[in-house]
Amino acid sequence: MGEKGENTAIVVRVADGVPTLSQENIDIPSLEGHQVLVKVSHVAQNPTDVQAFDNNAFGDGAVLGCDFVGEVVQLGSQVTELTKGDIVAGLIWGGEIPGLGAYSQYCVADEKISFRVPRHISRESASTVPLAAATAWLALFSKGCLGIKLDEALDKGVLIWGGSSSVGQYAIQLASIYGMKVATTCSPKNFELVRSLGASHIFDYNDQDAIQKIQQSNPGILHVFDTIGSSTSSAVASCVFDQGVGNLCTVRPGKANTEEVKPGTNVTDVLVWTAFLKDHSYREFKWPASKDDHNLSTDLFKKLLPAWLDIGMLKPNEPKVLKGLDKVTQGFQEHREGKISAYKIVYEV
Ligand SMILES: NC(=O)c1ccc[n+]([C@@H]2O[C@H](COP(=O)([O-])OP(=O)(O)OC[C@H]3O[C@@H](n4cnc5c(N)ncnc54)[C@H](OP(=O)(O)O)[C@@H]3O)[C@@H](O)[C@H]2O)c1
Repeated sequence: MGEKGENTAIVVRVADGVPTLSQENIDIPSLEGHQVLVKVSHVAQNPTDVQAFDNNAFGDGAVLGCDFVGEVVQLGSQVTELTKGDIVAGLIWGGEIPGLGAYSQYCVADEKISFRVPRHISRESASTVPLAAATAWLALFSKGCLGIKLDEALDKGVLIWGGSSSVGQYAIQLASIYGMKVATTCSPKNFELVRSLGASHIFDYNDQDAIQKIQQSNPGILHVFDTIGSSTSSAVASCVFDQGVGNLCTVRPGKANTEEVKPGTNVTDVLVWTAFLKDHSYREFKWPASKDDHNLSTDLFKKLLPAWLDIGMLKPNEPKVLKGLDKVTQGFQEHREGKISAYKIVYEV
């Protein structure tokens, strides 16, 4: 698929249906016109990496990893907004195209769905931003999700279920930037963190009375973003709709995670890959290319993220840095054991 050269990557190898991770030298990826080649220095781990590996979603030869930061070393023929030597944070659906993913020394970034890292933001912090921030952005503001209009967001109430998750932390901040009133749930140890990000009403998701308390403090709430998508989270969160009418967007598509929601709930799901202007499918689910989502995402990456990060209006997740891509097996295990709380694992390549 690309040039020969030194490109050490973590490759999924599948034998007898069982996936393993193998460190190998693979071809350097080739570029489409609107893409740049990035020499990766940091990769952030996302749950989807582990889920894709454990479910053998992409088969033999896949390179996983979606969030990366590094130096632009080559430009596609139509690139106008980035130059060689720029330090960028990029996003890719690692595994979708064989041999292409972020757990790799070289990866490709779409010039529209990437941003120059402001000087005083560390590379490890910046690598936590693209996937989770774009997910939160689309969930709140895409027409196919909660569809809140940016110019009508002021004073609207929103419940972010799972505010200390990576996606949740960005969702709280984005909603707050647009003046929304944010209620959220997390563990008590993370209450101060989510408050500092902009949540005004904070509840423990293990508190049996959480829903009643949210209804009392935020009556008439009409928007819920479930950033967790467990078997129960959407069903529980939808109970805040006191009149039985409301909009809930979840990070996990599929009936299994939402069939128990309160009757009257309008359920949508977010798929961050609609940021790219192409059709996507995963198992039985299909998401057609969306010009609206692409334009919304381009605004986020090109105009908003770099400016907000620069002036401290948007705070990246806390990175936990592991040195070397050979630590990926360890990082995946940390996710499986449910240990990750209000931080994101980042690999220094
Ligand atoms: N559809 C998409 O495009 C898309 C994009 C991004 C992510 N996702 C999915 O979104 C989910 C979250 O991803 P992430 O990276 O944000 O996860 P993460 O940061 O790894 O999530 C860990 C957090 O989840 C919180 N949590 C666990 N169970 C909870 C519950 N029942 N209620 C509320 N909070 C709970 C924990 O909070 P405490 O520590 O405070 O207890 C912890 O901080 C994953 O399933 C991921 O696959 C989907």
